[in-house]
Parts: sequence; C-alpha cells; structure tokens
Amino acid sequence: MRKPIIAGNWKMYKTITQAIELANGLKRAFFEIDASSIDIVLCPVYTSLSEVAEVIADSNIKLGAQDVYWQDEGAFTGEVSPVMLKDAGCGYVIIGHSERRQYFNETNETVNKKVKAAVKHGLVPIVCVGETLEQREAGKTFDVLKDHISGGLAGLTEDEVSKLVIAYEPVWAIGTGKTATSAQAQEAHKYIRDLAAALYTKDVAGGMRIQYGGSVKPENAAEIMQQPDVDGALVGGASLKADSFSEIVNRGLKAKVKK
Ligand code: 13P
Repeated sequence: MRKPIIAGNWKMYKTITQAIELANGLKRAFFEIDASSIDIVLCPVYTSLSEVAEVIADSNIKLGAQDVYWQDEGAFTGEVSPVMLKDAGCGYVIIGHSERRQYFNETNETVNKKVKAAVKHGLVPIVCVGETLEQREAGKTFDVLKDHISGGLAGLTEDEVSKLVIAYEPVWAIGTGKTATSAQAQEAHKYIRDLAAALYTKDVAGGMRIQYGGSVKPENAAEIMQQPDVDGALVGGASLKADSFSEIVNRGLKAKVKK
C-alpha cells in the first residue's frame, strides 16, 4: 500500500515569526498522528526553513523547500542548492510548480536537472505537473501530462523514479476555488500511473505516490483522497492556517485508511 502524503506549500507567505507560530500550531494538532500512517510535509519559504525545522524536530512532521538549484555550490546569485536544503533540515523539495513555470521560466529541462540534483542528494522531489484551462479545453490534458513527466523525469533510473512524488496540479484549479472533480482528478492520476507503468515498470507505477493539488480544502479533501489513484494532496491557501490544514490531514487520513 502506498503511504499517503499531504504537503503544505506555503508559497510566498509567512514571516519567520508567523512560520514558527503556524508550525507550532500544527505540531500540536498532529500530536497523536502516527508518522508511519502518513507523511505530513511543510514547505515554508527559504528564510523560515531552519526555524521551522527546529520547531518540528522530533515530531511527525517533515520539512520541504519550494524549489532548488541543480549545482551544489557556486556563483549563482540568488539560488539555493540541494546540499544547503539538506543542511537546513529538508527531506523534500517541490520542483516545477506551475507558478515557477509561469513566472520564472521553469521548463522541463530545468525541472529535470533539479530532480536529478535532488535525488542525488537524498531529497524527495515533489514534481508538479498539470495542464492550463486552455490546454484542457483543447483536449490536450494527457499530452501535457506526458510531456511534463517524460521531460521532467528524463534519464532517471527506475530506482530514482520510485523515490519521487508526483503532484498533479491542474493550473486552472490553483488558487481559483475551482477544484477538479474527484472524477477528473482520478482520471488524470490514473493516466499518470499508467504512463509510469509504460515508461518504467508496473511495480514502479504501483508504488508511485501521486498527490492532487488545486483548491484543496477541508470540505473536498475526503472526496478527492478517496479516489484510488490519489495518494494525498499538495495544499496551498488552506495550508496557511493550522485548523484548515489539520482538518485536511485528518480527513485525508480517514479517507485513505477506510479503503
Ligand atoms: P491552492 O491550494 O491555493 O489552490 O494552491 C495549490 C498549489 O499550488 C499547491 O502547490
């Protein structure tokens, strides 16, 4: 069985003080959750990573970053390397988020370099894929997913692919309040899993954890995560408050355990 994974992408929100407060609230809220039943990951901004790491040390919560550069070190002003993320306490890193593709020239090629660098250093990449509204309406959803997956994961070994997480995030559902229906999410997730079986092996595909992201809230978390190929969620807005994120985790956990 695949272990569910729910991550909070805090995007460009929260000062250090606010981040510490939120992390403390979540630590209290998740106190009774068994870490072997689910991976809960917080992805704050770079400036808060070490402080949040300190708060969640010895808890069942894990730390992730929102991006990474592919070199270990060097004259790359403004970038942060996988070595530095590990040093700050990260176990995970989001790569290829649609906001990075949209505003910061992220391409499949840069995603691929980042994924390779992350796995080389033992970080679990959360690789984001997903179509825009125009692409969906033009019937190109599967083509886009295939392009993002085959490009972003190019050259990775089966062993490396088996360690990463995919986040299906339809761009039209991010921050818009428009969630994909559970049927739309399941259809895309199944496509991704079938594609992984074709590109790698059935075992790799069967073990691959695929999160859904895009306007996940406490109200829709259970229905989405009940889908057989949905293994968790990547949550933006609703991860910024302890009560809504903890409710999503509780409902998601129940939805997965019930099956
Ligand atoms: P929202 O949950 O705010 O729609 O954001 C989703 C997202 O982009 C998570 O990475």
